[in-house]
Amino acid sequence: MQDLLGKVVLISGGTTGIGLAAAKAFVASGAKVVVAARNPERGIQVEQELRHLGGDAAFHRCDVTDPSSVADLVAFVADRFGQLNCAVNSAAFDSRPSAAHEVPFEEAGKTISTDVLGVFNCMKYEIETMLQGGGGTIVNVSSVNGLSGAPNAAVYSAGKHAVIGLTRSMAKEYIARGIRINAVCPGATETPRRERRTEHLTSNERREHRDQLSQAIPIGRLAKAEEIASAILWLSSAASSYVVGHSLVVDGGLQA
Ligand SMILES: NC(=O)c1ccc[n+]([C@@H]2O[C@H](COP(=O)([O-])OP(=O)(O)OC[C@H]3O[C@@H](n4cnc5c(N)ncnc54)[C@H](O)[C@@H]3O)[C@@H](O)[C@H]2O)c1
Repeated sequence: MQDLLGKVVLISGGTTGIGLAAAKAFVASGAKVVVAARNPERGIQVEQELRHLGGDAAFHRCDVTDPSSVADLVAFVADRFGQLNCAVNSAAFDSRPSAAHEVPFEEAGKTISTDVLGVFNCMKYEIETMLQGGGGTIVNVSSVNGLSGAPNAAVYSAGKHAVIGLTRSMAKEYIARGIRINAVCPGATETPRRERRTEHLTSNERREHRDQLSQAIPIGRLAKAEEIASAILWLSSAASSYVVGHSLVVDGGLQA
């Protein structure tokens, strides 16, 4: 991914999990990286971690559900680095698995406002800045649950379907103006988010849960966040120059 050298990359939801793995991979490719999330303590830690890896990196606090916070983030990137070449939108609300009829309206609203409107807010301001710079790439993090139904995760699944809708529509809208937009659809991936889902279980139950999950995946294990990051980097680089509006499944064969 040599073309990523010196590129300016913004990763919303970039301080943990898949976003953080992508940030490290971009730094390893010589890109300048801004990670954004809500928790400044965690953000500063990540900024230092990325700099120790030899990267030109910065954290900026942002709540993707708040358009003015996103506008401020993108303005920070432009001030600090003078341009924006690549964006990755990875933030999602930490919704808990639950039967659809038992999901509180408030939680459904938070899922949609983070997972759908958050991605839209980010794309809106990222695109505005990329148009001024002559183009760029955007990768949105959807899910295999954005391609098929997910029992006990109906609102999450609806949100991830919507991310694919935004990706396809805006990819068609902006490709002629030099902005190439795609999505990645991970299957079950080892991240803090997934660990939080089983933290109420005993360690034996957790192992059992993990074994059952692994057995359902043809490759026989969960993805590592780095494996999703590889797909994100490819979609962000010139290696995928003719790939537009695509939803790249990275799921160990689950959807096959
Ligand atoms: N882990 C999986 O198994 C899996 C599978 C498929 C898709 N995904 C998707 O991958 C993406 C990353 O998930 P992850 O597993 O790395 O989770 P994660 O919880 O580790 O990362 C999500 C990040 O988003 C940030 N965030 C949440 N709400 C925010 C807000 N309002 N404003 C700014 N930042 C906010 C969090 O602080 C966190 O840094 C999500 O979109 C998730 O839906 C994950």
